[in-house]
Order: sequence, then structure tokens, then C-alpha cells
Amino acid sequence: MTDEAQRQDQIIQELSQHIKGKGLTFFIGTFGCQMNALDSEKIEGILTEIGYTKAENEKTADFLIYNTCCVRENAELKIFGKLGALKHRKKTKPNFMVALCGCMMQQDVVMDTLKKKYKFVDIIFGTYNIYKLPELLQARIETGQNIIDIWKTHEDIVEDLPSIRKHAFKSCVNIMYGCNNFCTYCIVPYVRGRERSRSVDDICEQVETLVNDGVKEIMLLGQNVNSYGKNLDDKPTFSYLLERLATIDGLRRIRFMTSHPKDFSDELIEVIAKHNNISKGLHLPIQSGSDSILRRMNRVYSREEYLDLVRKIKSRISNATITTDIIVGFPGESDQDFQDTLSVVEEVKFLSAFTFIYSKRTGTPAASMTNQVSEEVVKERFNQLVATVNNISANFMQDQVGQKYEILLEETSKNDTQMLSGRTDTGILVHVHVNDASNFIGQFVNVKIISAKTHYLIGDLI
Ligand code: SAH
Ligand code: SF4
Ligand code: F3S
Repeated sequence: MTDEAQRQDQIIQELSQHIKGKGLTFFIGTFGCQMNALDSEKIEGILTEIGYTKAENEKTADFLIYNTCCVRENAELKIFGKLGALKHRKKTKPNFMVALCGCMMQQDVVMDTLKKKYKFVDIIFGTYNIYKLPELLQARIETGQNIIDIWKTHEDIVEDLPSIRKHAFKSCVNIMYGCNNFCTYCIVPYVRGRERSRSVDDICEQVETLVNDGVKEIMLLGQNVNSYGKNLDDKPTFSYLLERLATIDGLRRIRFMTSHPKDFSDELIEVIAKHNNISKGLHLPIQSGSDSILRRMNRVYSREEYLDLVRKIKSRISNATITTDIIVGFPGESDQDFQDTLSVVEEVKFLSAFTFIYSKRTGTPAASMTNQVSEEVVKERFNQLVATVNNISANFMQDQVGQKYEILLEETSKNDTQMLSGRTDTGILVHVHVNDASNFIGQFVNVKIISAKTHYLIGDLI
């Protein structure tokens, strides 16, 4: 354990003497991507160790934490809406506490609004100092004052604090933090800072511990995993890390996200092809099919380069599936640019695509581009894109009927409690009928696909 982790651990022990046994509950509302989900597992670990227990829902919690996202405006509006509704509760329940953290807090404009309009928030921290939560909570309790602690940057990576995994059999692992790419629409580099990679040994050690603890699948996380290692002294590559992890005994499946197309090396394709336990489902955001838009987004690849990469991947890994992210309505997007996006979707035949309406983020270069596209046009394009994506996905799914797959069963199906949901190696969602569900969660099983919907398959055990 590092000195800093030890210091926080000491505070956890001190706090637990006050908190344990009091029946106090917490609730964490998590917004945004897997990074935030993983950060929330750390927050949950810390609070549990201190002696809080999980509340049934956010309405009953004594301590409510929102881990926020700001990648699009909608995400922020949701948080402000929730805060508005909390004002009354804060007045009527004196011991009720609210904390805010996550990406949204790293923006000065947001902090200004919070300081003016939402003075009741007890603790505010950011993306760099989650590990300091014990200390901040102690300061709040001891001084009775609201605590705001936002750092603009931080080099050190403090791991080793308690964390509570959502699933026993799978886990996410951060391999790097931050992003250096500065795509012109994106706020992430401003709120998550510059790229910082964890060492190969630290990651391998963590994964080995997880595997010994029953984890079968890990998801490696980073904003751009392909640039892993660039800030480390011996410059290990992502392919090297992946190969080290692939040889860990008992690790059945390794997935990773996100890969940036500009850094997807031939060496990486070879490593993925070579190891059975590396997922062949690749998430490769394209964002747009138009060269002029890609250039103005600062994505550093052209449409043709992206297509070449997909061809290369598919020729070397025949069962690879590609999923993607697409933004509609980037400033200056013409009808022709949008048609280029539709045609690239048709050409690649993405298994699925996350489609987003461009959202102006204050402080990013695209926010000051003058030729913003009208809301009407964007909505129309968005609907057309979703229809195209769904059509391709439905056809792909239909083609899987009769195929056999090995899937990892993860949880009870959201649509039908008589079924379990799992994923294939390539990440396709499959629902399966089983008799005794609890015996199957966390197990790999073989299934035959009997029917298909747009976004998932239904299979029988074989
Ligand atoms: N690092 C990852 C993605 C992080 S954000 C990558 O580069 O792929 C996830 C997705 O949100 C992005 O891929 C992009 O499609 C979308 N996104 C980011 N900023 C956005 C904005 N301002 N408006 C709309 N969508 C955005
Ligand atoms: Fe944002 Fe681009 Fe970095 Fe992804 S690679 S987080 S889209 S700046
Ligand atoms: Fe993720 Fe949202 Fe932050 S997408 S990195 S939680 S801005």
C-alpha cells in the first residue's frame, strides 16, 4: 500500500468508530461511462468499510452521492434536476448528506453554478481525488462546514483502497487514466486530464488477484487503450500488456475499450488473433464517415484509413465484430457529409452503434465553430441513422439463428425474469431459458440460437 492509501485507510478506521452500528445508509447514483462505474465501486468500497450500508433507493439514503458525467448536456441537466428536488429534503432532514463528484465537477462553469445556487451540497470532489473521500468526509463531520476539493490535475495514481465489485465473476480494470487526443467536440481531456498509465506489473498483479478471487472476465478500461504505456519509462505497448494478461491461468475472457482507430497496430491485431481468451468484439468509434468532418473533429484518420483497418482486422480475424460510436450534427455537417456517414455504416455493417446528437460543450474548440446545424435537421438525420443501424443489426442477428455460441451468463434478464442474459465472446447479448438460475450466473455455457431480435438473441442450452 502507498503512504497515501495508508493514510486514508487510517482515517477509514477512525471514522468507522463513529459510523459503524448506527444503521446509516448510502446510495450512489452513477452517470456516464464505465470509468465512472468503476469509480463508484471504489466509493462504495470506502463507505462500506467506514460502516455505511447500502440504502434500498435514493429516497431513503442518509448519504446520497452523485457521480456525474458531462460528456453531453443532457447528462448535466439530469443532475441539476435531481439537485433541485433535493433542496426540500435537505431542509427537513438535518442529518441527510449530499456529495457530488465525477467529471462535471471539473468544470469551472459548473462549480460557479453550484456555489451560487446549490449551497446545500455537503461535499464536492472531482475525478482526481476520489481516494481522498475518507479525509473529506471526516473534515465535513468534524467541522460541520461544507467541503469543496477540486484539483486541476494530478500525476500520482492511488489504488489499493477498498472497492466493492458489482459482479463476482467479472470486473473492470483501469489500465490508464485521462486522454491526450483532444477531439474537438469532447470535454473528456479537460475533466480527466492527461494520459497516465498504470505499470504492467501493477495491472497484472491486480488481474491475478481478481482471477484467484473467481473473476473469469475482465474489461480493460481507458479512453484510448491503444496509447497505453506512452508515458511510462520503458514504454510498454498495449499489445505487450494484453499478451501478458492473456497468459494468466484461469482468465477466460479479456475485453477492452476504447480503441482509437488511429493507433490500432498490426501487432495488436496479431495478439488478438493469437489468443482465444481475448475478445474478438472490438469497439472502434468512427464518429463520422466524412473526411472533412473527421478532419475538423481532429480524429487523425480518414474514412479510407478506417475502412482499411476494418478490412485488415476482418481478414486476419474472421469472426471479429465491430461496434462503434457516431455523432450526428457536428458543426458544419452537410447533407453530403451525413450521407457519407450512412454509407460507411452500410459498408462496415457494424454489429451495433451508439449514436449521439452532437452536444456543444463549453471550452471545446467545436463549441466556437460558427456553423452549428439546426435542431430539426439533426433530429431528422439522427432518426435516419438509427433506422439504418438497427436494420443492419437486425439482419446480423437474424443470420445467427441456428449458430452455436459459448456465452458467459451474467444476470437475470431485464425483460423476463425466467431467463438469464449473457454475452458471447464478441459481446452479443443472448437471453437463455434455464431452470435453476442461481446455479448458472457466472458460468460459461454453450447455447444454440433459436430466435433473434434487433439487439439481442434468444438461445437454448445445449
Ligand atoms: N474515448 C472514447 C469515447 C469517450 S466518450 C473514444 O474516443 O472513443 C463516448 C462517446 O461520446 C464518443 O465516442 C462520442 O461518440 C460521444 N461524444 C463525446 N463528446 C460528445 C459531444 N460533445 N456530443 C455528442 N457526443 C459526444
Ligand atoms: Fe474524447 Fe476523443 Fe479522448 Fe475519446 S479520444 S475521450 S472522444 S478526446
Ligand atoms: Fe465518462 Fe462522462 Fe466522464 S463519459 S469520462 S463519465 S464525462
